[in-house]
Amino acid sequence: MSRKINTNLLHSYPVNDKYTGAASIPKYQVTTFDQKNIYVDAQKYCYSRMGNPTLEALQEAIKQIENAEFAYVFSSGMAAVTTSLMLFKQGDHVIFPKEVYGGTYQFASKILPKYGISASFLDYRNIDLIKENIKENTRCIYIETPSNPLLKVSDIERIIALAKEHKLLTIADNTFMTPIYQKPLAMGCDIVVESLTKFINGHSDVLGGSLATNDEELAKEISLLHKNFGAVMGTEDAWLVLRSIKTLGLRLEKATSNAEQIAKYLINNPKIKNVYYPGLDSHENNDIHTKQASSGGAVLSFELFSEEERIAFLEKIKLPIFAISLGGVESIISHPATMSHACMSVSERAEQGISDNLLRLSCGIEDVDDLIEDLEQALK
Ligand SMILES: Cc1ncc(COP(=O)(O)O)c(C=O)c1O
Repeated sequence: MSRKINTNLLHSYPVNDKYTGAASIPKYQVTTFDQKNIYVDAQKYCYSRMGNPTLEALQEAIKQIENAEFAYVFSSGMAAVTTSLMLFKQGDHVIFPKEVYGGTYQFASKILPKYGISASFLDYRNIDLIKENIKENTRCIYIETPSNPLLKVSDIERIIALAKEHKLLTIADNTFMTPIYQKPLAMGCDIVVESLTKFINGHSDVLGGSLATNDEELAKEISLLHKNFGAVMGTEDAWLVLRSIKTLGLRLEKATSNAEQIAKYLINNPKIKNVYYPGLDSHENNDIHTKQASSGGAVLSFELFSEEERIAFLEKIKLPIFAISLGGVESIISHPATMSHACMSVSERAEQGISDNLLRLSCGIEDVDDLIEDLEQALK
């Protein structure tokens, strides 16, 4: 009998410590290991950057939720992203979605060129455009869907098919959906990136990232980068993420149910100009999203009609914290124009459809009636 998600999150990877039976994997808060007994099983560890039992337990958990054979955990989502991009070499070209996460955009546009790696940023809703931009030196199509902050959806299956046709690698940043709702590896993607900082840890108290793959050769290269680039995760952080993964299914269930109800509430509210939520039938490419993901997720964006209304709304809203980030147990509201997308010019933002009156809401696990009541009073 195949088990369901919440059972798997509690029982399908080493949840108990194999050395002591402790019901929570201990924090092996250590850098080095006495190697006098190097030949016995328990002596497989030598130095924590190369392997640590707490980090390995988390890697086992990530393999389980990603259905992956290999997984590595990093000190942040960006450490995972940049390590994956270090697989490329001088002269290579990588294609990114135009709305790729800001940190990835800066790394690809400002840092990769120093190492002779070029990048194109394209509108992935147009697959032909991606095809037209594949050059002789293109090595990878990087995927991120839905996008931030407008939740634009790109077709993972078609992009992977195009990449395979041209023998290109695919890397997917799956942070918004998490492997609970969207499984790029099962669709043939080569590497999946997650910022563990968001839903997977989910308590706004840890920075972390992961890479997962089913390809042994890629795993070897990632492993080499992991230990030598050295952006490995700290033990305490890995322990906190292990603790959080046990409730990932429950947290997501509540947060996405809240998002669905809030999206429906907002779309019928005359004070709201636009609502962007991939779970709404009216959302562009909702059919593609529904085909490749099992939920609309817990993040939505909405646009107010004027600056005055946006300022008044933000002054009045009480429950969500007003902050950068997403995926916490508490609802988080953010203003892309001055936060995540502040480094873009007004015209670049306008080109992507990000107006100054756009707000992004990452729904937490509060009682939805309280969230809607709060939105109602702030909109009034
Ligand atoms: C889609 C996406 N990928 C990667 C990252 C980077 O993650 P971190 O902040 O953990 O480095 C973020 C952060 O917001 C993100 O939203």
